[in-house]
Formats: sequence, structure tokens, C-alpha cells
Amino acid sequence: MTETYENRPRTGGVYEPLGAAEPVLQEADRLRLRAGSTTVEVTALAPDLFRVGAFPDGRPPEYASEAVAEEDWAPVPVSVRETEEGLALATPEAEARLSLSPLRIGFADRSGRTFCADDAELGMGVVRRGEAGFPPDSEPVMLHKRREEGERFFGCGERTSGLEKTGSHQVFWNVDPPAGHTAAFNNLYTSIPFLLSLRGGRAYGLLFDNPRRVEFDLAREDPRRVRLGAEGGDLVYYVFCGPTPRRVLERYTQLTGRTPMPPLWALGNQQSRWSYADEEEVRRIARAFRERDIPCDVIYLDIDYMDGYRVFTWDRERFPEPERLLSELRKEGFRTVTIVDPGVKVDENYPVYIEGRENGFYCLTPGGEEYRNVVWPGLCAFPDFTSDRVRRWWGENLRSLLDEGVSGVWCDMNEPSLFVPRHSTMPPDVVHPGDGRPRPHGEVHNAYGSLMARAVREGLLRLRPGERPFVITRAGYAGLQRHALQWTGDNSSWWEHLWMAMPQLQNLGLSGVAFCGVDVGGFFGDCDGELLARFTEFGVLQPFCRNHSAKGTREQEPWAFGEPYESVCRRMIKLRYRLLPYLYSLFEECHRTGSPILRPLLFEFPEDETTYATDDEFMLGSALLAAPITRPGIRHRHVYLPEGSWFHLWSGERFEGPAHILAHAPLGEPPLYARANHAIPLGPELSHTGERSPEDPLTLMIHAAGGSGSTTLYEDEGDGFGYREGVYARREISCETTGRRTTVRLGEREGSYEPGPREVLLDVRGIRGARTRVDGEERGFRVEDGRLLVSLEERPGETVVEIEAT
Ligand code: GLC
Repeated sequence: MTETYENRPRTGGVYEPLGAAEPVLQEADRLRLRAGSTTVEVTALAPDLFRVGAFPDGRPPEYASEAVAEEDWAPVPVSVRETEEGLALATPEAEARLSLSPLRIGFADRSGRTFCADDAELGMGVVRRGEAGFPPDSEPVMLHKRREEGERFFGCGERTSGLEKTGSHQVFWNVDPPAGHTAAFNNLYTSIPFLLSLRGGRAYGLLFDNPRRVEFDLAREDPRRVRLGAEGGDLVYYVFCGPTPRRVLERYTQLTGRTPMPPLWALGNQQSRWSYADEEEVRRIARAFRERDIPCDVIYLDIDYMDGYRVFTWDRERFPEPERLLSELRKEGFRTVTIVDPGVKVDENYPVYIEGRENGFYCLTPGGEEYRNVVWPGLCAFPDFTSDRVRRWWGENLRSLLDEGVSGVWCDMNEPSLFVPRHSTMPPDVVHPGDGRPRPHGEVHNAYGSLMARAVREGLLRLRPGERPFVITRAGYAGLQRHALQWTGDNSSWWEHLWMAMPQLQNLGLSGVAFCGVDVGGFFGDCDGELLARFTEFGVLQPFCRNHSAKGTREQEPWAFGEPYESVCRRMIKLRYRLLPYLYSLFEECHRTGSPILRPLLFEFPEDETTYATDDEFMLGSALLAAPITRPGIRHRHVYLPEGSWFHLWSGERFEGPAHILAHAPLGEPPLYARANHAIPLGPELSHTGERSPEDPLTLMIHAAGGSGSTTLYEDEGDGFGYREGVYARREISCETTGRRTTVRLGEREGSYEPGPREVLLDVRGIRGARTRVDGEERGFRVEDGRLLVSLEERPGETVVEIEAT
């Protein structure tokens, strides 16, 4: 049976938990045991990271995975001791506890607090299907964990519905769902089988690494139990001991890879439409942005730029001179990004198709024929991206786009999405020839999208080694953040989807995919002025900010609905441009530590359980809290402010958290709160594009109130890889307020990049100054609209500003 979105068969069979185990080997960092015919290995990869592998039916340990980036871990001091139940493998920070009869594995921190313990009754094991004709590694594997009282679950990558996933059933199987996904839909385009658990402020993470179909039952069937299962293969999982969400994410992104530094222009506002039909339309759109003074850095060409949807070609009637068009756009400050789908049109006169076929680069039917299905171009063949050679070939084909001036590549339909039947994906028995190791599609399904994005990123790096690749993907697997940013596919112009974008992006961020965004304005269906304005208020705070919409829907460029909406969109997009230095610093923090850019409140305040349910608000970094309006006609909403002092960005009003407040939010003034003592670096007021000049003045906006805080300012050339050789400038900006005194410290500049010469304007709000000293010397200041402004010079050493309030 061909598998469609709805009709996927469930697997039967009898679950067989592992029984008693015997240790068979002990190495520096690991224990190996044998339970019946299953080999189990527990390895300490880092003081707070364990890997567990179970390999049924005598199969040897094997951990290679598209999810994993870091394979060479520094040795960890590990000790093994005998316990009453069995053995413990201890690092300086945590231990894995194994009871041997039957084999059950759990974890404990240094204080002895246990977490992520196997369910005593069910543990891990295999579902015996007892059917002839299946290879043994197609039998499902399962892991059962005990859910502790009060334990709550988050993450799971791209999901519908709310932030918290406790009590839910999660399916991981990449599909292109039918239009208008609601909370009733489960799996979407990407699969990241990663859980973040929180209990009383203590976090741990679990990655269940298997690119086949995976399902999690998160205490839905039994409130005391969690079940994680895959449709076959080995059972491999990683436990990140935390104890904070920040630590979990740091380790998780060390294992699965960090978000690469994007080019600065990628943070700018972006505009798309399926499709801008021809050169003239593209020019008209670009002109409108400039004439209307709405900043924009990137314009997209959707599928209609191609000749009959043949990838790596141009429709020469609609786009007779792409090189000229793209260079004109470039002069106006626009980059161009083109879409590329995996399906290659079956066409005897199309060299790309022929070349792929002659080299055996396509997926095959079980009978060895080229596997074909229908996508936009009609009948297509599908590259086997599991092969290095195929990925190289795909990457090389990008040359034809780059030669015309394309700046970035948008990978779509890479679940892969197939049209026969509608909303289907590749049948599990399609064969990936690989590089000499053929594998059925079902074994690699969820990784297909990541592998395509990888082909593109690696190709761009080979073709333009001096530039940071810009790659977008719709489908992918854990670790996709190494290759591409993720946009969340086809949302709708619905208020419900504006709301859902918040939990969705927060869970993506908690699952390592920090560079993400939803289509601003919504893709399917007709937008309207108010929805677009509110969507843009939210959208400009996304790591990836792109307005995109489907064929046949109303136009939804920022000016499409006239006033007052156009002005709101302009104001919000300009706010994003002012925030670019802050956003860019957050990207660097993410690149260095894995911390999400758009993050849930619980990431910053894990001790505060009220934040666990606050999924219609989020933090942009650690300094800015946003509580978007997501219903029509509404001018007020409830906002929860966690501990500390907060300042309403538009009125300057101060609030003491924890508090539940009612925010007034007319159009154009979304509820945004600055966290006291956390500096927010801002760029100049007006800018058409994200391109910056080193002379641009830099403003450090700080809201002072009793307490302390710090953020990081990071700058570099905005593209290229000089930062890897130290060509960057990073400094910590801390602020402490006690009584009447506020001290702002601009830490010593790290790195050799020279910003400036420029003015650095300290913009302190919330206090009135009577006396200001810079490095011990009296310094003048001015007061404007209640803001205290101190002008500083850009210099590499530490600068200390002391403000004595009246
Ligand atoms: C898919 C994409 C969408 C794109 C369309 C045409 O639906 O998700 O963004 O516009 O295909 O290429």
C-alpha cells in the first residue's frame, strides 16, 4: 500500500523487554553488557552527557547518524563501581546507574537526585512481530522511562499546538501536510526526536536518535510512563544531564552541531511570493520597498523562475536576463534567493536529469528501476542524497544559479513531498543505492531533507569558499541547524497560526533549531490589514523574518492593505533594523553556545514554573520579552512578567515581577518589555538594508533598576570567515544598580575587528542622573525624553561609566 498522510498502518507485535544482563567489557569511558542476544553499551561522552545503545539480535554497536556532528569527545574521567543492583558509571558530574536483573538504566546527579530512569517493568526492548520475510532490524525498538511526579516535557522540534508536550503523543515522520494544519495534526515537515524535561527547575534532555518513523508517548497512556519507539533499527539515545535548559542546549548542540554564523544580510527583512512571475514584477516589488521606505534585504524567486520547474534552469521568457536583473537588484541593496526542489524532471532533453540517470544518482524501486513520482514538474526522479557523490553533484549544479548572481538557496519539498497520492511521501521500500551500501527509504526517511540541505550548504561552500552560505530548508532531522535555517512551511493567514508560531518556534529553539521563522502574514488563504500588521509585529522578532504567500491569495506585501497597516509594518520592520546589533549578537551567542535566539521564558527562568505554561510570550535573547497580540480587534492582553524589573518599551513604565499585568497594545505598539540592567545594542534609526558601515553610531539602551545583568555585544565583518581567525569584536556589557548608583561596564574588547571610529551612545532609562563619571573622570550628559545620554568613544579597553542618580 502506498502511504499517505492518514492511512499509515500501525505496527502490531509483542513487546519483549530486556531481561538480565551481564557485563562483558569495560573500557575507559564505557560499559558493555549482554542481555540475551542484545548488546547494550553505556558511554560517558562528557561529564554531563551519556549515550546508551542497544543492538538487538547480535548486531554490533553502530552510532553513525546524520544527527551527530561531534564524534571525537575529549576523554572524561570515569569510574565504575558496583552497587546493590548492579553497576554505576560515574563522571565528575553525574552517573548512569544500571540494575542488571533485569537490565534497567537510570541517571543521577552528584547530589544523588535521579532522573530519566527506565520504567522498572518495561525498560527497553524489541517488538517481536513474528512475521516471516522481514529483516530482524525492521522490528520496532522501544524505550520506557519513568515519569517523575511533576515532570514536564517540551521540545520535540516543529510541532503544532502549545509549548508543553506532557500528556501528548508525538509522531516523527516528515510529511508535507494538507493545507491548514491545526492542533489535530501531529507530524509536520521536520523530525527532531528530542525532549527537554523540566521538574522543579531541573532540566535534562533526551535525544532518541533514529531517522525512521519514531513515536513518543509522553505520559499520555500512563501518567507515570514515557514511551519512545522507532520502527526498526537500533535503539540509541543520549541523555543531557543539565541541570539548566541552557546547559542541556549547549551540550545538545555540541553533539548535533551549532547554527553557523549567517551573513549579516540574512537577518534583514525578506520578501517572497509564490511567485513573482517575471522580471518586471520583481523590479516593481523592489522599487516599492525603496519608494515606500520599508527596509528589505532579500527577494525570493519561487518555482516559476524555472523553465518548466526544471531545477537549475531559468525560464528565459519570464526572466530573459537573470544576471542583469540580479545585479540591478544587488545595486539597490537586494540579495536574491531561489527555490530548489529535489524532484528532477524526467525529460530526455534535460541534461541534469540525464546526467543523474547515467551516474545512477537516483532512488530506485525495489525491482531496481528508477523510482518516479509526480511533483511540480510532472514526473520526477529523486536524487539519493545519502550518497556523497550525489550530494557533490547536486552542489556542483548550484553553479548555474550562482553564476547569475543568486545569493542563497531555498530547499523545499524535501520530505520528500509527492503528489501521487496527494500529500504522500516516498514509500519505505524505495531503495537508496548509497555509496555501495543500499538502504530502504524507511531507514533514512527523516534525514532526507537534512541531507539535501547539507548537499546545498557544502556545495555553496565549495563554490564560494569566502562567503557564509545561506540555506533554507523545510524538511530535516535532528542536527539540521548545521546545514540550514528552517522555515516552518505552509502556515495559513489565520490568527490561530499567528498564535501557534510562538510555541512552534520556541520548541524548535529548544530542539537546537534556533535560526527559524514562519511565513509572515501566513501562506495559504487571504490575509487582511490587521492580521498582517499584527503578524509583522511578531514576525520582526523572529530569527528569520520573511513575508511569503501562496498563489491565488491576496497580495500581502507590507503596503498591500493601505493605511494604517503599511505604517505599522514600516515601523516594525524599522524596529528590527534598529535591533540588528542585538540580534546579530544573539546569533553569535547561539553559534557559540547553542542558546536559542527566540526562547521560551522557561529557558531564562526555569525555577519559575509559571513560565512553563506561558507559551504566548517569549524572550528575544535574555533582555527583551515579547507578548504579541494574536486576536483581531484586541488592544489589551494579559502579560506575565517573571522575577525582576521590566520596562514597557514604548511608555517606559516600570513593573516589578513576578507579576501578571494587563498590557495596552494599540496597533504598532506590541507589548515589549526590556529587562532591567540588560543592555540592548541598537543600530541607527534609518536603514534600507542590513548592510552596515563601521562608522554607524551604536546605541546601548539600558533600563536601570535595582539589581544587575549583562549581555554581549558581538560584531564582525558581517560575512566571510575572518571571525574564525579572530577578526571579531566581542565585549560584555554589564550593569549594576544599587541604591542611587548605576555602574555600566563595557568589558574589554575581545578579537581584532575594529568597529568604528564611531560614537557609542549610552542611553540609560529609568533613572535621572546628577553626576556621571567615565573611567573615574566627570563626563557631561544630556537628557532627552527622560533618557540619560552619555557619549563614549569606541575603544578596545574596558570602560566604566558610573551614574549617580538624584
Ligand atoms: C511549497 C512551499 C511554499 C512554496 C510552494 C511553491 O508549498 O512550502 O513555500 O511557495 O511550495 O514552491
